[in-house]
Amino acid sequence: EFHLHPKHLSLASDGPLGKFDKQQLQRGFQVYKEVCSACHSLSQVAFHNLEGLGYTEAEIKAIANQWPTEVPSVNPETGEPATRKALPSDRFPAPYANDTAARAANNNALPPDLSLMTKARHGGAAYVYSLLTGYRNQPAELLKEFPAAKTPQGLHYNPYFANLNLAMPPPLTSEGQVVYAPGNPKPTVDQMAKDVAAFLVWTAEPNLPNRHATGIAVAVFLLFATVLARLAFLNIRNQKK
Ligand code: HEM
Repeated sequence: EFHLHPKHLSLASDGPLGKFDKQQLQRGFQVYKEVCSACHSLSQVAFHNLEGLGYTEAEIKAIANQWPTEVPSVNPETGEPATRKALPSDRFPAPYANDTAARAANNNALPPDLSLMTKARHGGAAYVYSLLTGYRNQPAELLKEFPAAKTPQGLHYNPYFANLNLAMPPPLTSEGQVVYAPGNPKPTVDQMAKDVAAFLVWTAEPNLPNRHATGIAVAVFLLFATVLARLAFLNIRNQKK
């Protein structure tokens, strides 16, 4: 079998007590912004949602205002299609005007929207992390056994991708490709891949810590209710005697 299962990835948001590491989410957002957003949309997330990562209103305004792709709009005078700068209330603008333009720029493959990617693929965040760090040369045994699996021109070999060859060139290639603010871990390829995977867990489920907290509260209440029910039962039985 040449197709590999995702590598292990542990994140602060894992498990029933998991919470987001906001510093990591900010780094992951930075990776999305500076690398992935050139090809991938994030259509389910609005700029103002970045409040959940700890950004201030002013920072969010600036991020929206400086976003490289503008938002489709109309010229109020002529009624012609136009674009305007993004506002905090806008969702992230897509990098391409439409799927045809996206395919034209990507060897006919469509870069999928990343909003729900960690829910869509088996392995979730660990899959995204593995895919980003999984590019390599094709193993000789594979070519010997399946000569037709040779990576075609314009595709890239990645054993974590179900088809083994994918149209996305390795997006994270060198340490320091994204420059993190002081006090953060070194931006190695591995670290950047982990951070953007963590960020994509947040985009897919920004309220995950609330869901966890509700679950814990419900479990505690049920335990308490069970004890009360048991005491009530014993009480009734004793009165009958
Ligand atoms: C596919 C993530 C950067 C182009 C994908 C997939 C993921 C992903 C999770 C889906 C793989 C699957 O279907 O299972 C990322 C992340 C990036 C990034 C996290 C930034 C770190 C880029 C860039 C480009 C690009 C910069 C364009 C140069 C594509 C294309 C596909 C794809 C064309 C479709 C591949 C195929 O179906 O063969 N990406 N990507 N990606 N990505 Fe990216």
